[in-house]
Amino acid sequence: MIFSIILAAGEGTRMKSKLPKVLHKICGRPLLSHVINTAKSSGIDKNIVIVGNRSDLVRKTIEEEVTFIEQPMGEGVPYGTGFAVMQARDFIEDDSHVIILYGDTPLITNETVNNIIDFHKKGNYEATVLSADFDDPTGYGRIIRDKNGNVEAIVEHKDASERQREIKEINSGIYCFNGKSLKIALDRLDNNNAQNEYYITDAIKILNDLGLKVGGYKILDNEEIFGINSRQQLAEAEKIMRKRINSTHMTNGVTIINPENTYIDADVRIERDTIIYPGVIIEGKTRIGEDSIIGHNSRIVDSVIGNRVEIQISTIIESKIDDDAHIGPYAYLRPNSEIGRNVKIGDFVEVKNSKIDDNSKASHLSYIGDAIVGKGVNIGCGTVFVNYDGKKKHKTIVQDNAFIGCNTNLISPVEVEEGAYIAAGSTITERVPKGSLSIARAKQVNKEGWVEKKGLKK
Ligand code: UD1
Ligand code: CA
Repeated sequence: MIFSIILAAGEGTRMKSKLPKVLHKICGRPLLSHVINTAKSSGIDKNIVIVGNRSDLVRKTIEEEVTFIEQPMGEGVPYGTGFAVMQARDFIEDDSHVIILYGDTPLITNETVNNIIDFHKKGNYEATVLSADFDDPTGYGRIIRDKNGNVEAIVEHKDASERQREIKEINSGIYCFNGKSLKIALDRLDNNNAQNEYYITDAIKILNDLGLKVGGYKILDNEEIFGINSRQQLAEAEKIMRKRINSTHMTNGVTIINPENTYIDADVRIERDTIIYPGVIIEGKTRIGEDSIIGHNSRIVDSVIGNRVEIQISTIIESKIDDDAHIGPYAYLRPNSEIGRNVKIGDFVEVKNSKIDDNSKASHLSYIGDAIVGKGVNIGCGTVFVNYDGKKKHKTIVQDNAFIGCNTNLISPVEVEEGAYIAAGSTITERVPKGSLSIARAKQVNKEGWVEKKGLKK
């Protein structure tokens, strides 16, 4: 069995944040969730997360299924990566493999996790360290190799001699251990070092002293072990992750006109032959079908978009848009809006908590709130669904094939029945019966010769 221990108890003071570091997001997901998802997609089903700093918030926020273990925190309490791993000791089975990961190192890929496991198994190692060559290794633990190329020890920068500090091969902090050996090493860790911390890195020398073999698997792409300590690094990691996400979509057959300024969250799914224009932001768990066009500077959050939909420079939040619909430019779909097939929601139309059925149109300058609109309805320019009486929101129903003239106010609760017409400029306060024409506006009065009589003629 393989399981992971993900260290996420540290403080992250350089973020200067109220939020624990591992809950900061890149591409719409907390850092820690990226690591958990990578572990899961590497086939690691059991994942243990060591939490400490603001652990209640971490437990509450993380949606993935994991086992949380509390690392005690506070003055006088031991600290360090070794102490963190010790908290999971009782979960470690002798014949298991344990992958140790960091919650603040979100760019690690499942290929690398699988490679380190393969390398570990093939080499018959008791532990394997994921290492990398850094031009500037300052601050990192250094890898000490023996004459056979196995890893003899890891020396922390603060504990290293001048000569050891010249070593460019660093410890990523990611390891694979055999369960039994990890437990043996944990039981022997101490904190006699420059930082008075329990170092998990000391496990390497402990195993060597017991005559057990430790491997060093060097990563090819240093990007993957990039850890986040500051907001600058958060932005850098976001950029790398964004590039990967966009590249995956393009591999899957999505056209992204300018990937450098297209922002797609990690959990978004897009079908092939959809085209994404520059400046688009697609967030959360949004799904987009085939052959759709997402025009420039649109923002779509947690929404479901069908096939052949065209969206131009619009904002769509928690809504559903069916096939062949046209949205925008400058439309605003607020939560819980359902737009049917072949519907047109045009410029400066706002829709909130409303269902608009197939083939209906609201082409310009309207507000549709708390409404049920049937099929084939025409909502004229400037129509307002007056859903709020100052205290409560009310519902409006417009049945199939109704025609709402321009600049109509529908004072809800109110119902317009099937096929009814409303004259432009009407303020509708009562039910409009099926098939009728409703006119609710002052009658026009023409006062002939009035301008001349008033002496206003030019
Ligand atoms: C650690 C390694 C170092 C390696 C570097 C790579 C040790 C002793 N050193 O150093 O060799 O080059 O990572 O980035 O392991 N954490 C806890 N509980 C703790 C302490 C830390 O959960 O008590 C977590 C932190 O939240 C963080 C991770 O462990 O995610 C690493 O801790 P950090 O203090 O940053 O380790 P480094 O000193 O950088
Ligand atoms: Ca660190």
